[in-house]
Amino acid sequence: MTELAELADQLDAADPLAHVRDRFLLPEGVIYLDGNSLGPLPAAVPPVLEDVVHRQWGTDLIRSWNDNDWWESPLRVGDAVGALIGAAPGQVVAGDSTSVQLFTALSAACDLRPDRSLLVTDPEHFPTDRYLADSVARLHGREVRRVAPADLPDFLASHGDRVAAISYSPVDFRTGELHDMAALTSAAHEVGALAVWDLCHAAGAMPVHLDDLGVDFAVGCGYKFLSGGPGAPAFLYAAARHHDSWRTPLHGWTGHAEPFGLAADYVPAPGIARARIGTPPILSLLALEAALSAFDGVDLAQVRAKSLSLTGFFLRCAEDLLAPEGFEPITPTNPDIRASQVSLRHPHAYGLIQALATQGVIADMRAPDVLRFGVNALYTSHQDVLAATTHLHRTITTSDYDPTPNRPGAVT
Ligand SMILES: Cc1ncc(COP(=O)(O)O)c(C=O)c1O
Repeated sequence: MTELAELADQLDAADPLAHVRDRFLLPEGVIYLDGNSLGPLPAAVPPVLEDVVHRQWGTDLIRSWNDNDWWESPLRVGDAVGALIGAAPGQVVAGDSTSVQLFTALSAACDLRPDRSLLVTDPEHFPTDRYLADSVARLHGREVRRVAPADLPDFLASHGDRVAAISYSPVDFRTGELHDMAALTSAAHEVGALAVWDLCHAAGAMPVHLDDLGVDFAVGCGYKFLSGGPGAPAFLYAAARHHDSWRTPLHGWTGHAEPFGLAADYVPAPGIARARIGTPPILSLLALEAALSAFDGVDLAQVRAKSLSLTGFFLRCAEDLLAPEGFEPITPTNPDIRASQVSLRHPHAYGLIQALATQGVIADMRAPDVLRFGVNALYTSHQDVLAATTHLHRTITTSDYDPTPNRPGAVT
């Protein structure tokens, strides 16, 4: 047995989360390292969906809005997500897409800072975050400034009194570098700006402390580390201290104070409930709720520790097996600033990821040249990591892949 194989065995044998893998229905023979794009199917989901479809919808019909508590599900599921991101109950709603929730968060932040002209965001932010900052700025008559996280404190020191809000993600989705949420949130607050965070790559992957950090608004998706399924409802966090004064941009009937009063004019519901818009997607919400049971009894500090062990081991395998073959790791080796993925740069990224898929190793790429491997401490093992890197090593050394095209990456 090689040294790496021995190490993988030791690390897996000592893994306190090893039993949680059984909470997922991972296909036989597949090594799944793309849960940072689409989480796999949690075992709890199919029986719940069976019940929701056949009993709740099929038999109880419209009575389910009350009898099966469908009506409250956006808030109930919101609270369940909140428990994973350091939000006390009553501050998170689940529903719609991350993009829509981001529109709500950025618009609300602009409304709370009417006299400040700038929205500041990351030039490397995920595209939807950049597009939405532009569209909210246009609608609210603001200007977008793109400032790298490392330069943000300096920027705020000189322009801070003009900044309405900053909008960042704790995780760089390409490199897996972690940005300092605490430092950037307090730098924003020091100049009177609000902090909006996109937690798509953080929720469920590491402890997040929204209340403790005093974050103003946060959003995230349900389909990556929360494994809520394709197109799972997203979530929006609005800190309780804004609940008396915040305005949402989309006034739908389910966010009305009395939705069944059918009043002519909109009166916002108190608290987070005003962020509800239209009829909630019950099947997806209840699938997400079932998926979250995979976290039952799981300590997110343990998730973080194992995630770091997995990415650290990945980097070690990459150094031994892949760096000599021309792969350049772009994920930080420093565990303090490393999220739950490892990214490698290689000019043949597309062909290599395709070749891996034919061998049962599923990962993804980001154009033009980044191979991206997401680990999830709930179900990834060190043996998975070793097998994936070994397959990649064999693929490159045997040239058993198509080196020519570098086509854009697959879906998010
Ligand atoms: C950081 C980040 N924000 C947002 C999204 C996607 O937004 P939506 O859920 O609206 O498609 C992604 C998708 O990968 C993402 O990585």
